[in-house]
This record gives sequence, structure tokens and C-alpha cells, in this order.
Amino acid sequence: MLKFVKNTPFIEDTSLNDILRVCKTPFYIYSQEMINQKVNYTKKILGNNIFFSVKSNSNQAVLKLMQNLGLGADVVSIGELKRSLTAGFDPNKIIFEGVGKSKDDLLYAIQKNIRLINTESLEEIKLLEKLAKEKKKKINIGVRLNPNIDGDTINKISTGKKTDKFGIEINDINYIINLIKNSPSLNLISISCHIGSQISKIDAYKNTFAEMKKAADKFVNAGVEIKHVDLGGGFHVKYKEGDPNFEIQDVKRELDICFGKSKYDISFEPGRYLTAESGMLITSIITKKQNGGINYLIVDAGMHTLIRPAMYNAYHEIEAINNKSKNKISYAIAGPICESSDVFQKDIKLSEQSIGDILLIKNAGAYGKVMSSNYNTRELPAEILVNKDVFAVIYSPQKIEKYIDEDITPSWL
Ligand SMILES: Cc1ncc(COP(=O)(O)O)c(C=O)c1O
Repeated sequence: MLKFVKNTPFIEDTSLNDILRVCKTPFYIYSQEMINQKVNYTKKILGNNIFFSVKSNSNQAVLKLMQNLGLGADVVSIGELKRSLTAGFDPNKIIFEGVGKSKDDLLYAIQKNIRLINTESLEEIKLLEKLAKEKKKKINIGVRLNPNIDGDTINKISTGKKTDKFGIEINDINYIINLIKNSPSLNLISISCHIGSQISKIDAYKNTFAEMKKAADKFVNAGVEIKHVDLGGGFHVKYKEGDPNFEIQDVKRELDICFGKSKYDISFEPGRYLTAESGMLITSIITKKQNGGINYLIVDAGMHTLIRPAMYNAYHEIEAINNKSKNKISYAIAGPICESSDVFQKDIKLSEQSIGDILLIKNAGAYGKVMSSNYNTRELPAEILVNKDVFAVIYSPQKIEKYIDEDITPSWL
């Protein structure tokens, strides 16, 4: 997405300098062309049944783009459901999952007639039964199963082991079958799973597919007509040299081996794979300092803007625009937040940098802006979408005064 023309960085055919003139750092920037390519490639390999995982990047413009590209939406909260409906997704192309949906959330989803509600606990199935009965509706549901598979990823983004909080244990299938067969109000039409994010090992997919096929057959053999099998997201993205190679063709091969002869309608719900590489976080150097022999560059983006490095030691490649000096200096790149974990990289070699210089934090299109916060009472980052030689501000942050005004000081103070 990034190219240099006479030392000027371009995103598609738009000069970053033009954007910097109208938008103050830090901000996220996304390439529409890159998203188009990633989505079309994924559809080409895995078919049209792709539900974009809204949690990875939920900007309304990105959702509209995904919808235009023919994807459905996979949402994990009432807020994401409202976002997806507002962006124009057909309710019949929205799947609602999440481990903690409230009664009000479920009622809202029932009222909107979405494609299906994926239940994540036996209690939730019972609650849905009660709500559907009250509303005198027959509703479509799915169950998210926990296949007890270790995706061999960062512990904090693993979701498919039986001790993780997600999904319903495969051992409970008989109990679910019984519930559904005795339910006048629920139609169980789908089973799903999602074993975590950044899954690169093809054996993890192979084992998951095998468990899901076995589970689907078990339902069908017991007389519960499962139509859809949703195999989750989690496709691996390369953040640095040396990361494992991952190809969705390999996933497709395992899929065909396992499900090739079956009649199930297969779907996936990727997030990161579709947007991570399309985005960059643009930040500028506020100040420089040396502590204990370390050359710190303190930048205006921090863990409040992109939390992945602080939260799970995630690596993001950083590139400097100022490449003037030939000799490289070892820098630590840190944010302005009052937390020791607010460091993007501890030892990166760059040409000598000056205050005001711009750094590009790459592969930040997924789990970036969506996880940003106002910590330390700082503004959220803006977002920009580039489409060839035009760009648009697609998120403009509220002023700090607005946040302050949201607090209410009681009369006795
Ligand atoms: C239920 C569910 N589906 C899909 C995804 C998308 O995962 P990824 O962005 O790794 O593709 C997630 C994220 O963890 C998720 O929780």
C-alpha cells in the first residue's frame, strides 16, 4: 500500500503530505484498494460465504465497503449489530455471537430478524427459548461449539480450548439436541466455532474441521437439520520477517478433504486477514531523550492509539520517512502514556530522526482504532480512507472538552 515517489510516501495515488496538511497525527489510514484485493482473493479461494468480523475494524465506511464487496457481518455486541444495520447490511447477512449477550441484546436481535443468533451457553439457549415464546416467534439460532483445540497462538487470543470462556463444550451436544427437539420456538440451523486469532498451523484447521464435521453429523443423525457450518476466522497475518508462512489455499485444501462431499453450507468469519495489511498508523515524534543509554523517540501515538504491543507484545514494523542519514541509530519508540508498557519497539535501527519527523506503524488496519481509548484523557485517533488519488476523513475525534463534559460532578461537591 505504501510507495515512495521521490522520497514522498504515497498511499495508492495519494501523497501522505496532502493528508498531513489536513489531519493531525496520530491517525489511521486505510487503502481501499488493498481491502478490495484481500476480500476478492479470500472470496475467490473460500467462496462467497464470508462474514466480516466487525470487531477487527468497525468504522462505518469500512463496513459499507465490506457490504459493497458482498460480505456479511459477524458481530459480537449490540453496538456492532447497530453499526452493521446502520451501514446497510441486510439483516439476513448478520450473525450475532458473543459470550455475554443480555436479554435486551437478544430481544433487539430477535426484533431485527437477523440471519441467526449464535448461542454460547446452555443458559442462553434456554433464555432464547423463553423470549421467542413470549414474542410468539420461531427463531433461527446457531450454537458456537468449543472444539477444545489449541490453535497454538498467543494465549490472550486463544478461544478454542475447553478452559477458554467461549462456546459450548462438544460434550454437551446431546443435551442441546434434547433442548432443541423439545423446543417449539427455536430452529437450530447452524453450528460454529472460532479457535482464536493469528492461527498459522494448518493442523489446527484440519483438526477443527474434523471436530466440526463430526459434531454436525451428530446433530443431523439425531434429527436436527443443521444447514450451515461456520468455521470462524483467525487467519494468520505476517507482521514481521520470520513469521510463519500462511496460505488460505492450504485451509481450502483441508476444507475440501473434510467437507468436500458433505452438503453443509460452509462459511467463515475473518477479520484481521481482510484489513490488517491495509492500514497504517501515522505518528510524529514529539521529543527525543536518552535514558540509561537508550535513545528514546517519544511519539504522539501510544497504547491509547494502538494497544496491541502493550497488551500482548505484538510486533508492528515501523518505517521512518526521514531516511536522510546513512548511518543508522538504535532507537526505542515509545508513546506518551504514563505506563512503562507504552513502548512500540525497543530496538529499531533508523536514520537519525528529528522532532516532528513522521513514523509509519504498519499492518495496523485490524484491532487498531477499535481498541483505542481515551486513557490519560487523550483524544482518539482520526481515520482516513484512501481511494486512488482521493481520500476522506472517516472518523473525526471528539474534542477532549467533550469527554470532560460527560462526567457529572454531584451537587454536594
Ligand atoms: C467469534 C469471532 N469470530 C471471528 C473473529 C475474527 O478473528 P480474526 O480477526 O483473527 O480473523 C473473532 C476474533 O477473535 C471472533 O471472536
